[in-house]
Amino acid sequence: ASEQNLVERAPVITIMGHVDHGKTSLLDYIRSAKVAAGEAGGITQHVGAYMVEKNGRNITFIDTPGHEAFTEMRSRGAKVTDIVIVVVAADDGVKPQTKEAVEHAKAAGVPIIIAVNKMDKESANPDLVKAQLAELGITPIDWGGEHEFVPVSAKTGMGIEDLLETILLQADVLELKADPSRDVKATVIESSLEKGRGPVATVVVQDGTMRVGDIVVAGIAFGKVKALLNDRGIAVKEALPGEPVVVLGLSEVPGAGETLINVKSDKIAREYAKKKAEYLRQKELSKSTKVSLDELSDMIAEGALKTLPVIIKADVQGSLEAIKGSLEKIRNAETKVNIVSAGIGGITESDVALASASSNCIILGFHVRPTGIVKEKAKSSGVEIKTYNIIYDLIDDVTSLVTGLMA
Ligand code: GTP
Ligand code: MG
Ligand code: NA
Repeated sequence: ASEQNLVERAPVITIMGHVDHGKTSLLDYIRSAKVAAGEAGGITQHVGAYMVEKNGRNITFIDTPGHEAFTEMRSRGAKVTDIVIVVVAADDGVKPQTKEAVEHAKAAGVPIIIAVNKMDKESANPDLVKAQLAELGITPIDWGGEHEFVPVSAKTGMGIEDLLETILLQADVLELKADPSRDVKATVIESSLEKGRGPVATVVVQDGTMRVGDIVVAGIAFGKVKALLNDRGIAVKEALPGEPVVVLGLSEVPGAGETLINVKSDKIAREYAKKKAEYLRQKELSKSTKVSLDELSDMIAEGALKTLPVIIKADVQGSLEAIKGSLEKIRNAETKVNIVSAGIGGITESDVALASASSNCIILGFHVRPTGIVKEKAKSSGVEIKTYNIIYDLIDDVTSLVTGLMA
């Protein structure tokens, strides 16, 4: 594309930080929304993308979970963003996921702004936050460093105007530009299978203009864009660079983190997707031989290996990934979790059939439930189904099950 097509685009800002430090509450204040109040267990468990207007300019915000299980989501969030806001509660200071957030931002090479939140609290100690972050190489400007620390309160709204101004100033420095007339390039930040809608992907457009009717491919998924929904669920005809948008009409659920592009024809889209599927199959094959070799040597070393076989079904890809990652870590010398299968979508009869084929296999549902028929089938074949809405409940339960096996 020639230079003259480059225009200013909305900055993409990812909000990261330790659990309950107020990321969603800050965004709620900015958007006059009430997302945090409706969250199961009071924690964020998926990536949210929102657009806000400030001084006639659009800003895209990506909210990420702070719970330790969601490392992948945070890493992805840092990779698509222009600027990371690390939220630190002034009454709690730097915590493990604060450090992790700083690491992700450093790895992505993007500027970091610190929002020192909960300043309305009497126990707020912003100087301690500054000292703790300075130790991580994030030194405040007023201490001779180069990082903006903005004191805020998501409760009273104090400092939030300053935070938005700081974001826009930083965006100006970055001179963010894109070419809306180019082919679409977007990044999938979350994906799921929805009843009545089929595969759904939330993407952030990086370049080009995405339109209804475009033929697109994202990893193994392809299709003609049937509808685009903005962050409020309203149908839109197009999405510009920097904007988040929900895409309907894909053949499969694309992997989170995949790049979505538009192509000339359906045939090309199919070919791309087929190649990607083949590549993933090969990778999976080489991985599974490696894992079983590891397991084999462990078994030899330990004499025996008891396992808890599980089937995981979840509503969104990011959660599935987080659950798999956490369950793989529940393991000691004698017992481990064996993930027989993991997928997106409701619990089906074939999940029950698969579970009943291996002994003691349980089905774990996260934000998904079995239908009445599936429940009956499970009962008659002696398969246990456990469903959860909060990730730490699931992890705690499986941990105690594994502990039970060990006893
Ligand atoms: P995760 O997404 O689960 O990591 O949490 P989060 O960082 O999004 O925090 P969330 O917005 O869920 O807020 C956690 C708790 O802190 C809630 O009870 C909020 O009401 C409270 N909270 C958030 N910001 C402030 C603030 O500025 N002042 C006070 N007093 N409370 C706050
Ligand atoms: Mg949150
Ligand atoms: Na929370």
